[in-house]
Amino acid sequence: MLALAPIRGVTDAIFRTCFSHHFKGCDRALAPFITTVKATFVNLSHLRDILPENNLALPLVPQILGNNADDIVTLARACADLGYTIVNFNLGCPFPQVVNKKRGSGLLPHPEVVEKMLTSIFPRLSCKLSLKMRLGLHSSTESAVLVERLNQFPLLEIIIHARLGKQRYEGNVDMEGFKQCLHASRHPIVYNGDIVSKVSFEKVKALFPTASGFMVGRGLLCNPLLAEQLVGIKNPNPPQKRLHAFCGDLYERYRILLPKGDRAILGRMKGIWFYLANSFENKEELLKKIQRCKTCREYLELMERIFG
Ligand SMILES: Cc1cc2nc3c(=O)[nH]c(=O)nc-3n(C[C@H](O)[C@H](O)[C@H](O)COP(=O)(O)O)c2cc1C
Repeated sequence: MLALAPIRGVTDAIFRTCFSHHFKGCDRALAPFITTVKATFVNLSHLRDILPENNLALPLVPQILGNNADDIVTLARACADLGYTIVNFNLGCPFPQVVNKKRGSGLLPHPEVVEKMLTSIFPRLSCKLSLKMRLGLHSSTESAVLVERLNQFPLLEIIIHARLGKQRYEGNVDMEGFKQCLHASRHPIVYNGDIVSKVSFEKVKALFPTASGFMVGRGLLCNPLLAEQLVGIKNPNPPQKRLHAFCGDLYERYRILLPKGDRAILGRMKGIWFYLANSFENKEELLKKIQRCKTCREYLELMERIFG
C-alpha cells in the first residue's frame, strides 16, 4: 500500500485530483489536517477540501487536528456524515503555534492525555479511526510509551513519520525508533519519512517487511512519477511531456477555482514549483525565475520556455 502524504498548502483537493489523473501508483491519500471547531455543528465550508464531489479520483482519508475529545467527535461525525468510513487523528504537526497548544506532536509527551482523549472518543465514533504520529516531540522514548498505551484501542492503523517534532522536517529519520514502535504495536503500522527514490523505498521495505504500507510526501511532490517508479508502472510518454500536461492542468483548475486574480493562482503554483523544480537540472535558477513571476502571463510564458 502506497499513500500520498498530506502536505498542507499543496496537496489540496485540486492537487490530489489532478495528480491522480496524470500519475498512478498511489492507492490513497490522506488529506491535510482540518482543525476542530468549538461548535456542535460543523459548517460545510470548513470541510470544503474533503467534500466527496471534489475528491472522486483517489480514495481519501480526512485528517483532524485537535485536543478536545468532544470537538474531535463532532468533526469526525461530520466527516462520517459526508460518507467517510475512516478519519485520521494528527499527532505529528511540529509547528510551535500547534505544539504550544498541546496539539499535533505537542501531545506526544503526554500519553495520559492521549489515552484519556481516545477513551472518551472511541465509544462515540461513527467511523474508524487511524493515527498519524511522530516518534516523539523531544525524544523517541515518548512514542515507545505511547504505542504501548495505544494497544488497548481499536485503531485501524498508525502512520509513523520517523522523526521527532523538534526536528520539524530536517535531520535524519530514525530507523531504530520506528522499528521499536513497529515491534511494540499490535496495530498495522505505515512507514513515512524520506522515501525519495526506488533505492530509499527498497531500503525501508527490506528493513520493515511487516510494515502495512508506506506513505510518501515531498518525494512525490519533487518527482510526481515516483509512485509509478516505486511500484513498477510503465508509461511510454516522455516524463517532461507528462509534467508539462500536469502543470498545465493544475494551472487551469486553479484558474477556475481561484478567479479572484493572479496572486492567488501564482501563490499556489509557486508552492508546487518549490518541490517540482527538483525534477529539473537547473533547479535554483528555475525557482528564481518562477518566484519572480508577478502575473499569470509571465508565468505562462515561462512555462512555454521551460517545456517548449
Ligand atoms: C509543508 C508541509 C505540510 C504538511 N502538512 C501536514 C498535514 O497537514 N498533516 C500531516 O499529518 N502531515 C503533514 N506534513 C507531514 C507530511 O505528511 C510527512 O509526514 C512528512 O513530510 C514526512 O514525509 P516525506 O519525507 O515523505 O515528505 C506536512 C509536511 C510539510 C513539509
